[in-house]
Amino acid sequence: MPINTSIKHWVNKVPSRQWQKADQTLLQMGTTLPTAIAESRPLAEVHRLDLSLFVVFEEAALRISGALTRSAPNADALNFSAQQTLDEARHREIFWQRLGDSCQASGQAQATISEAILTPPLRRFLERCYEVVDSGEFIEGLVLMNLVFEGMAYPLYAYERRYWQPVDPYLAALVNSAFIDESRHVAYGAYIVNQLLQGDSARQAKVRKLCQEASLAMGEIFTYYIHKFVKLFDSVAHLHKDLFATAEFAPGRLIAATPYQEQIAVIQASIAKQHTELLARAGLI
Ligand SMILES: [Fe+2]
Ligand SMILES: [Fe+2]
Repeated sequence: MPINTSIKHWVNKVPSRQWQKADQTLLQMGTTLPTAIAESRPLAEVHRLDLSLFVVFEEAALRISGALTRSAPNADALNFSAQQTLDEARHREIFWQRLGDSCQASGQAQATISEAILTPPLRRFLERCYEVVDSGEFIEGLVLMNLVFEGMAYPLYAYERRYWQPVDPYLAALVNSAFIDESRHVAYGAYIVNQLLQGDSARQAKVRKLCQEASLAMGEIFTYYIHKFVKLFDSVAHLHKDLFATAEFAPGRLIAATPYQEQIAVIQASIAKQHTELLARAGLI
């Protein structure tokens, strides 16, 4: 079924309804940093590192989706890229503000933290995305951005929300708000890629190859970050047993009762499953 990408429809649906609802929830919660984070150095460090990674991801998504508007081949693709650009700008802003709250509470310099979390393989992946979108290859750029970068990242948002829920419910609500948008980006991205590749088997084969290579590279990057963060969460959960007593990393699965290697295996399996389904919808496997 065709999707409605008109700006009129989207403004009504997302900023007017969805974001307003999310903003009301956040306003009621208040931005005060929970005392557990303010008082625990290890917890504050995981908080800052994770927020730094969110900022890195969202800023890259903003730059790439903004660049995609320049080469969008039709009105649907242009409107969709414009919508996504605004979403990413909002995501970057909300995570940056929360990072500011976190840094202020612990007297850290905000600007240097995002640099430290960006590994050379992730930097290389993002530079490749910038090169592709700057050269005007819309389909390839959309595949790298929405189907590989976001396509593998968005399942993680659901885990992030659950990890933070007992410690910083405000951050959990921010993650949930972004997750709703990201789910739309990957689904619309798959639809548009599928539409644009119809009847062009040579281009489809080329895009498939790019997608396979990029997914492999991104898979390795995520393996590193998932190990790093699950291990960090697991150690702070052990340090703060009361706080994490009922915390789940997956529905019905307690962090406290699951070895971190098992948490990693569950998360990676769910990324692989959702990513495969997404690529199938895009016609790329
Ligand atoms: Fe985003
Ligand atoms: Fe996105």
